[in-house]
Amino acid sequence: MLEVRDIHTYYGDSYVLQGISLTVDKGQAVGILGRNGMGKTTLIRSIIGFTPPRQGHVIFKGKDITGWPSYHAVGLGMGLVPQGRRVFPSLTVVENLTVARRTGGSWTVDHVMNLFPRLRERAEHRAGKVSGGEQQMLAIARALMTNPDLLLLDEPTEGLAPLLVREMGRVIADLKRRGLSILLVEQNLPLALSVVDHVHILSRGRIVHSCAPQALRENEEIKARYLGL
Ligand SMILES: Nc1ncnc2c1ncn2[C@@H]1O[C@H](COP(=O)(O)OP(=O)(O)OP(=O)(O)O)[C@@H](O)[C@H]1O
Ligand SMILES: [Mg+2]
Repeated sequence: MLEVRDIHTYYGDSYVLQGISLTVDKGQAVGILGRNGMGKTTLIRSIIGFTPPRQGHVIFKGKDITGWPSYHAVGLGMGLVPQGRRVFPSLTVVENLTVARRTGGSWTVDHVMNLFPRLRERAEHRAGKVSGGEQQMLAIARALMTNPDLLLLDEPTEGLAPLLVREMGRVIADLKRRGLSILLVEQNLPLALSVVDHVHILSRGRIVHSCAPQALRENEEIKARYLGL
């Protein structure tokens, strides 16, 4: 589904991603963990094309999309849930969904509202006025409206109350069961480990450790050194 091959990404002179390689297979969920400022969002931005890598390749569904504008990646089936939600605050919940609609897939407003019943209750509210948890659900629902095959989730539980974190875990697991491929950036370790098949730990723009979720659960040294736990 996705192959990231030795990418190097900069902001001006600032050398952030220093040779990242990873793959996400069809139907697989892969987690990216790491402390603040380690390059997780930059990795997501490099993949979708907001900040293209200066070196290396991003291969999506067999096509080399390195340097493509992000709308091409979305058109090809890549969906993004950006960090910090970024819903359109002055549009209603339902308008946020309809503007994202891309034809050719199975997700409709009705389907995403079945997944997030709270959004149905809030349909006519302005997105900027609903709760943080509801905005996060809307951000995921909006990404689903583009009918993605690969979903990039950048810290979907950030700032959410424990109950909503659990609900988010349930939704992500549900999407995975439906066959979606997922790249999940998370700082909530229990949540990440409960849904992913494989994890990579990012530190200062490099992958410093990769393993199965169970192996990380038991590795106190790695958790202490790279996640500050
Ligand atoms: N637009 C930008 N211009 C310049 N430097 C940036 C920009 N965005 C991020 N950086 C820097 O790049 C590095 C990686 O940032 P990034 O946002 O990818 O980290 P992150 O792992 O997503 O952090 P967080 O967990 O806080 O979201 C940091 O040192 C950050 O200061
Ligand atoms: Mg980030």
